This record gives sequence, structure tokens and C-alpha cells, in this order.
Amino acid sequence: MPDASPPSFDAVVIGAGAAGLFCAGVAAQLGLRVLLVDHAEKVAEKIRISGGGRCNFTNRELDPRAPHKHFLGENPNFCRSALARYTPQDFIALVQKHGIPFHEKHKGQLFGDRSSEDFIRMLLAECAAGGVTHWQPCGVRAVRTTGDGYALDTDRGAVTTRSVAVATGGLSIPKIGATDFGHRLAQQFGLRVVAPRPALVPLTFDGAHWQPFAQLAGLALPVRIETGAKKERMAFDEDLLFTHRGLSGPAVLQISSYWREGTPLRVDLAPGVDLPEALTAAKARSRKLIANELAQWVPSRLAEAWAQQEGAWQRPVNEAGDKALQQLAERLSRWELVPTGTEGYRKAEVTAGGVDTRSLSSQTMESTQKGLYFIGEVVDVTGWLGGYNFQWAWASGFACAQAL
Ligand code: FDA
Repeated sequence: MPDASPPSFDAVVIGAGAAGLFCAGVAAQLGLRVLLVDHAEKVAEKIRISGGGRCNFTNRELDPRAPHKHFLGENPNFCRSALARYTPQDFIALVQKHGIPFHEKHKGQLFGDRSSEDFIRMLLAECAAGGVTHWQPCGVRAVRTTGDGYALDTDRGAVTTRSVAVATGGLSIPKIGATDFGHRLAQQFGLRVVAPRPALVPLTFDGAHWQPFAQLAGLALPVRIETGAKKERMAFDEDLLFTHRGLSGPAVLQISSYWREGTPLRVDLAPGVDLPEALTAAKARSRKLIANELAQWVPSRLAEAWAQQEGAWQRPVNEAGDKALQQLAERLSRWELVPTGTEGYRKAEVTAGGVDTRSLSSQTMESTQKGLYFIGEVVDVTGWLGGYNFQWAWASGFACAQAL
């Protein structure tokens, strides 16, 4: 007689992205019988497209003692314990063990030299080393509690398990498999979900207001960008990119995670230059057009477009009024603008918000629902651009794997 009882595992990990693959491999190598399921056709698409195809897999500047420096969420300190127990150095050691060449870019960011595929292969090899059962594509239709664990209804039939780790990520890039499954599952078990919103995302502006700047699409320059007032103020010194619909580039992606609808951004387009003083000095010695003078401190395309905004700025600098020059300096070094929105989940690198960390143990990622864990981006922990989100995926996956 064939055995009619469904296959049984110590743990089922739902989502074979960064957090799920890593967690499954670690747990299986600790001796657990692990099933990893994912509904997407291809494994770890987000790792594949990450870091421009090279995967910015961690960041050397991450300081686990001060997570609020690089992470946001309702309780940024939640991630301290997991980040301290699995550090960038730990992941670097794994990457080195697999012989994957990498290099450091800007501000501690580590990228593979070749391709993101190296990292996917590494994570799959770690799963294989532990004997993980990997079902993909395979959707999970329902999860319910049993007397001593959970029963899952999947596209490949029913399974039972002692524990479930939810690693289904955020809502960003739905076309490669992002869903709100993790949020819905949390709610099914009575856990709060912090309202999700796109983060690390380009910002958009009203068409008519943006028209004078749309001609600058493609132009990139270093800026200082700020949002928020007083204690809430956040600022980044990074590159900004003009687009047809608004602003992008690292400066804008970073600030977008902190920007709230209806509030302004302040941009210094010539950081490190005392423009009032520089323009006053130019007036005393030069007969060039203002735009030509400005081009010493900002890209000439920007200088020209900027000077076009006012008649008083379209003349030789020695003929310009003091007030007009001061206004020009002010508008360039304190450009204040209110985005109308973002490019949304279609373009967002991550999702801010997610499963409320107050429902989770910071040691194990187990929720108040016994045996149900949440790891990676599905949790209300959002990292800065620069490898912080992957490090959170590895660290939360590692903490969970020890406890499953
Ligand atoms: P992840 O999204 O990796 O995986 C979730 C998995 O769950 C997916 O495989 C999905 O198919 C599966 N899933 C979803 N719903 C399901 C369901 N109902 N049933 C079964 N499976 C389901 N970060 C960084 O640190 N460095 C970088 O270089 C980049 N670059 C980057 C570029 C781009 C374009 C994007 C969109 C994002 C990045 N990121 C990044 C962010 C990073 O990719 C992201 O934070 C991590 O992949 C999150 O890992 P998770 O495992 O939590 O989710």
C-alpha cells in the first residue's frame, strides 16, 4: 500500500530569493530536513538583476552597533542582534570560500567582478550541500496550523512541517514574481503589517512644472540632497540624475526612502561651492554670460537651462544686478521642490514597511505565532542603497536558521 501521508519536513522556507536560499542552506547544513518553495519560474531573479547584474552583496561600512545609520523602519534597532551575529565579514568569507572574485566600489559597497550568477550558484550549492529539497516553480495556496506545526497546500501537493520561514520579499518589481503573500500570511495569523510603500525609487514631478527640466534628462551631477525638518532631517551626498519625468540616481533613491508625500526636498546643486561669493567675485572680473560663469561649478547643460529660467540671468555677469545674482545662487544651492510621487513598485529597488518587528523576536525572527518566522525584505526593515538590503537578508536568514 502506498504511504498516503504527505511528506513531512522540519522546516518549509517559502521564497527562494536572497533570504530564503541562504536560510534554507544554513538550516539544512545544521541537520534539518528543509523544503524550499518558490512560485517563480527562475530562481532568485532579484539577485540576478541586482547591482546592475554584478550584485552589490554587502557593505563594509555596516555598523551593527548603530543600525539606524543604514536601516529604517518603525524600530531600526530591531536588526542589531541579527546583524551583529552575521556580519559582512562572515558573508565575505563565504564568497571567498566559493572563489568568487569581488571588488569594493564607492562607500564600502562590494560587488562581484563577473556576474550575479556567481552568487546564485553559490547559494544553490550551499542548499545542495545540506540536501535541501527545492520545489520551483511551486506556489503555496494555503498555510494552516496543525496540532504540532503547519500543513501547507502547494501546487505539488500537501506537506507538513514543524516550522515555516516566510521569505517572500517585498512588492517591488511584480513582473519578476513579487507578491504580498508574506504580508497576507502575517495578517492571517493576526500579525500587524506596517503599510508598505516603494523605497529606493525615482521621484516624479507634475508634467507642466517639470517641463523646463525635462530637457536635462540623462544629466548626472554630484549634489547634497535633504528632506525632513530638524530631528527628522536626512541628507545624502551622492549623484543625482535628471530623467524625463523627474529625478533619480543614488542621491534620489536614498532620500526617497525617507521622503513623505507632500513634503519638499532641498537640493544643493553645487555642493562645496560658496555660490553667492563666487558670483560676486565673477561680477567684479568677468564679462562672460552668467551661464558661462556658472559652468565652472555645475555642468554646462545645467548652467544654461538654469539661466533660461529668468531674464535677469541671461546677460553678462558684470551687468547683472546683485539681487538677481543672489537669487540665482540661492536657487542653485537651495533648490526646493515637492515631488508629486514616485515611479512606484515597478521601479522601486525595495519595499519599506512590512511585517511589524514588534511581532518578531530579534534573536530568531520567530513571530508571536509559534513556529512561524519572517526574514528578509518582507519584514519592516529597509536598508540604504549599497548592499545593506542583501546583508539584512543574509543576517535575518542566518538568525532564523539557527532557531528553526
Ligand atoms: P527576494 O525578493 O529576493 O525573494 C523573494 C522570493 O519569494 C522571490 O523569489 C519570489 O518569487 C518569491 N515569492 C514571492 N511571492 C511568493 C509566493 N506567493 N509563493 C512562493 N514564492 C513567492 N540589494 C542590495 O543589497 N544590493 C543590490 O545590489 C541590490 N540591487 C537591486 C536591484 C534591483 C533592480 C532591485 C529590484 C533590488 C535590488 N536590491 C539590492 C534589493 C534586494 O534585491 C532585496 O532587498 C533582496 O532580494 C530581498 O531578499 P528577499 O529574499 O527578502 O526577497
